[in-house]
Amino acid sequence: MRSPIPILLSLTWLYQASATSVQQVARCALLAARFPDATLPQDNSTSSPYYTERTSFWSWTEWLEPTCVFLPNSTQQVSEAVIIFTDYDCPFAIRGGGHSAIRGAANIDDGIMVNMKRIRDLDFSPDNKTITIGMGYTWAEVYEIVEPLGYMVPGGRFAGVGTGLALGAGVSYFANERGLTIDNVVNHRVVLANGTVMEANEHTNNDLHWALRGGSNNFGVVTHITLPAIPHQGMHGGRVTYPPNTVDALTNLTYEYQVRTSVEAPDTHVLSTYVYDGESNVTYGFTPVVYQRNATQMPPSLQPWLDIEHSNSTVRNRTYGDLARELVAGFPNGLVQTHYSLTVYPSLEYFRFLRERFSEFCAGFSHIEGFAGLHTLMAITPAAIAKAGRNNPIGLNRARPDTTLTVLYLGLQFNNEEDIDEVFPDWDIFIRTMEAEAKLQDVLFPYIMLTYSDDNQEVIASYGEENVSRLQAIQQKYDPSLVFQRLVTGGQKIPLR
Ligand SMILES: Cc1cc2nc3c(=O)[nH]c(=O)nc-3n(C[C@H](O)[C@H](O)[C@H](O)COP(=O)(O)OP(=O)(O)OC[C@H]3O[C@@H](n4cnc5c(N)ncnc54)[C@H](O)[C@@H]3O)c2cc1C
Ligand SMILES: *[C@@H]1O[C@H](CO)[C@@H](O)[C@H](O)[C@H]1NC(C)=O
Ligand SMILES: *[C@@H]1O[C@H](CO)[C@@H](O)[C@H](O)[C@H]1NC(C)=O
Ligand SMILES: *[C@@H]1O[C@H](CO)[C@@H](O)[C@H](O)[C@H]1NC(C)=O
Ligand SMILES: *[C@@H]1O[C@H](CO)[C@@H](O)[C@H](O)[C@H]1NC(C)=O
Ligand SMILES: *[C@@H]1O[C@H](CO)[C@@H](O)[C@H](O)[C@H]1NC(C)=O
Ligand SMILES: *[C@@H]1O[C@H](CO)[C@@H](O)[C@H](O)[C@H]1NC(C)=O
Ligand SMILES: *[C@@H]1O[C@H](CO)[C@@H](O)[C@H](O)[C@H]1NC(C)=O
Ligand SMILES: *[C@@H]1O[C@H](CO)[C@@H](O)[C@H](O)[C@H]1NC(C)=O
Ligand SMILES: *[C@@H]1O[C@H](CO)[C@@H](O)[C@H](O)[C@H]1NC(C)=O
Ligand SMILES: *[C@@H]1O[C@H](CO)[C@@H](O)[C@H](O)[C@H]1NC(C)=O
Repeated sequence: MRSPIPILLSLTWLYQASATSVQQVARCALLAARFPDATLPQDNSTSSPYYTERTSFWSWTEWLEPTCVFLPNSTQQVSEAVIIFTDYDCPFAIRGGGHSAIRGAANIDDGIMVNMKRIRDLDFSPDNKTITIGMGYTWAEVYEIVEPLGYMVPGGRFAGVGTGLALGAGVSYFANERGLTIDNVVNHRVVLANGTVMEANEHTNNDLHWALRGGSNNFGVVTHITLPAIPHQGMHGGRVTYPPNTVDALTNLTYEYQVRTSVEAPDTHVLSTYVYDGESNVTYGFTPVVYQRNATQMPPSLQPWLDIEHSNSTVRNRTYGDLARELVAGFPNGLVQTHYSLTVYPSLEYFRFLRERFSEFCAGFSHIEGFAGLHTLMAITPAAIAKAGRNNPIGLNRARPDTTLTVLYLGLQFNNEEDIDEVFPDWDIFIRTMEAEAKLQDVLFPYIMLTYSDDNQEVIASYGEENVSRLQAIQQKYDPSLVFQRLVTGGQKIPLR
């Protein structure tokens, strides 16, 4: 039931971008007629709000040219807009915090970018056990509201990162004992393709709730999620910088952290990080180390991270919001970013192998302006795997019993898009080689974490066939005309049946 497109369009909407199709311009005009304060037409001047929206992404790879930007401020506005998109077969993208590096994951050429940023209401439940947040917040903004009240939520570790994390996987400071963020979400409020607003939780629409724990943008536009309110009296942590000569010792410690410390001292969080710096052509350690207690010093379990020679440490008694801001200071948005993710069983031999090969690979590109490599290792503890259980589609419990899984992040950044053609093809081959080597060493686990994945990786297929079939069936049930498959094309999509 398509209604005729109104004939009276304002001039702004008639005379604009040729890069965009006439149909999309008309659809944006419809949206603008309905939501004049919430629709930004294409405008190439670099001072326009439109330009700001189209370029406000962590990675340059997401700078696209949407026909217009839509900024809904409520679930109701999202619902009305989705009905328009569905009725007119209008391609759109859903943008949370804009930290995906996958081209088109949260932005779009010749279509409408829906930016969630005005959906920012935050409510505690009457008993203070849970917090419901609008999907327009970044994690640091949430922390700055809830921490002074004595609470935290299991969200992202870096300022600027948004709530898309909570639909993909989510490694938080609380991951060792509480599991992934997706497993902590107790309610999703989601706008389906036909505009219906559904609550999805353990009791109601629990199949949809299950699917959204890793299903990302494949089922609807999520407008709110509910997370546990974790009572919190301060923490002790910061980032420690280690010189290049320590990396072998750091790898040993990282292995120890993965297999033992993360399990035995779950109130800690270490994000083992190596940075390759193209300018100096060296790899050094740059690791956030956190104890979740209001303490004046590190517990014995984390002391080894301070015993290794280091050139700087910002470890102190502070807030998570404060640390989140420190961790991104000096890392501007808009550079070319690319990253892949693999999951392995912890292996000292493989960890060392990968670190050495990655440094060698990076050294081959030191001539590229602004070139840097980033390699991190993250623990999914047996407790986190148990918490996931059968409650999400990602299939972690295919792992051997009583083991930690290690999620590997391998990323590159550089200044200029002209260098992409030189770097990306070799980069892809490098990753395939490292993946094959993990398989040869019998340490590869088939799960690919969505939030750290590249477009070339088949994330949802990595959840396992049985779960892909179930996701397909749930998609059929809640989105029978496959709107979120056909019109929301960016990011990791469910394989078609
Ligand atoms: C500097 C940096 C630090 C990071 N730190 C962490 C960390 O500590 N822990 C961690 O787990 N991950 C971390 N990540 C990875 C992060 O989880 C992913 O980049 C994630 O995609 C970010 O979500 P976003 O909302 O910012 O991104 P976006 O690019 O806006 O969204 C990501 C995907 O989610 C979809 N999506 C977003 N919102 C909605 C919605 N409301 N409804 C439906 N679909 C939606 C989008 O369509 C898109 O495909 C980090 C990434 C960066 C770049
Ligand atoms: C904006 O720039 C693009 C090229 O980058 C061009 O195709 C388009 O017509 C321009 N839009 C407007 C409104 O000038
Ligand atoms: C949303 O915007 C509309 C106008 O576009 C305004 O009337 C309404 O009060 C806003 N709602 C919220 C929750 O800000
Ligand atoms: C919930 O937390 C708020 C803010 O800290 C506090 O004022 C209120 O008394 C708490 N309510 C309950 C029921 O604990
Ligand atoms: C941390 O502990 C100190 C001393 O016990 C206390 O004064 C302070 O209020 C605590 N900090 C927070 C954030 O609760
Ligand atoms: C790391 O561990 C290996 C194997 O246990 C050991 O041979 C090596 O000396 C250790 N390296 C450092 C720097 O501690
Ligand atoms: C970078 O360092 C590696 C050894 O770590 C060396 O082989 C290579 O030649 C160096 N590259 C440059 C440009 O100095
Ligand atoms: C931590 O810092 C806060 C504020 O800076 C202070 O009130 C508190 O006493 C400190 N806690 C400890 C244990 O030092
Ligand atoms: C240590 O790190 C902090 C925060 O990044 C910085 O302000 C300080 O200058 C650094 N100190 C040294 C000695 O590098
Ligand atoms: C599907 O995921 C569930 C967890 O939700 C898991 O128990 C099951 O093993 C997975 N199925 C397959 C075939 O991997
Ligand atoms: C919208 O779709 C859902 C899921 O298919 C269905 O339950 C609901 O009845 C539909 N609503 C309308 C108004 O068609």
